[in-house]
Amino acid sequence: MPSPERQITIAPSLLAADFARLQDEVAAIEAAGADWLHLDVMDGHFVPNISFGPLVLAALRKHTKLPFDVHLMIAPVDPYIDAFAEAGADHILLHPEAGPHLHRSLQRIRAHGKKAGVVLNPGTPVESIEWVRDLLDGVLVMTVNPGFGGQKFLPSQLPKIAELRRMIDAGDRPIALGVDGGITAETAPHAIAAGADTLIAGTSVFGAPDYAAAIRGLRGPQPAKTAGA
Ligand code: DX5
Ligand code: ZN
Repeated sequence: MPSPERQITIAPSLLAADFARLQDEVAAIEAAGADWLHLDVMDGHFVPNISFGPLVLAALRKHTKLPFDVHLMIAPVDPYIDAFAEAGADHILLHPEAGPHLHRSLQRIRAHGKKAGVVLNPGTPVESIEWVRDLLDGVLVMTVNPGFGGQKFLPSQLPKIAELRRMIDAGDRPIALGVDGGITAETAPHAIAAGADTLIAGTSVFGAPDYAAAIRGLRGPQPAKTAGA
């Protein structure tokens, strides 16, 4: 059963922000109630698009307290883990397909004292994380093929989220379960009902006229406050 009390983390994706005004955009999303900032790093090789690298992270790091949730869509990924950790990433997430030794890559992230996560493409099975669970702080389910914002949510991934929720709940460590791609006020409730606790959203937040209202819309109905709270 989905737990209605589960705390939902909202991580707007900078990919949909105005790149000419990144500092202002980050300040605005922080003021609007975002929990984390999701940063999509693309190399034009692992995915068919190019975004930004560690220099942009380092430049923004000085201007916000938001945790940086860094989604690496680059291959090979290992040679760049250190640079993103040093640039100010708080969480570093990578795809199992982006390097030959997933376990070693996750160890490298953790050696920097950063949270480590694995991202599953729509075609990537849940089993790919089975033997690295002890190194994970997060799992992110792609509900679009990675590379671009503004794509349509793939409902075919909902059973994968549910399977991961069961796997995480049966385990002995907290692992954030995120969903990334096509998340809107309409699709978010399906992802949450399947078991997601973290919503990555680009277009539906940075493309909205009122960022705070968009974030509230993703969180869904808030539980009623108890007396005295
Ligand atoms: C896609 C990225 C996503 C993207 C989401 O490769 O991983 O984080 O920014 O964008 P929307 O919310 O527009 O689908
Ligand atoms: Zn992403």
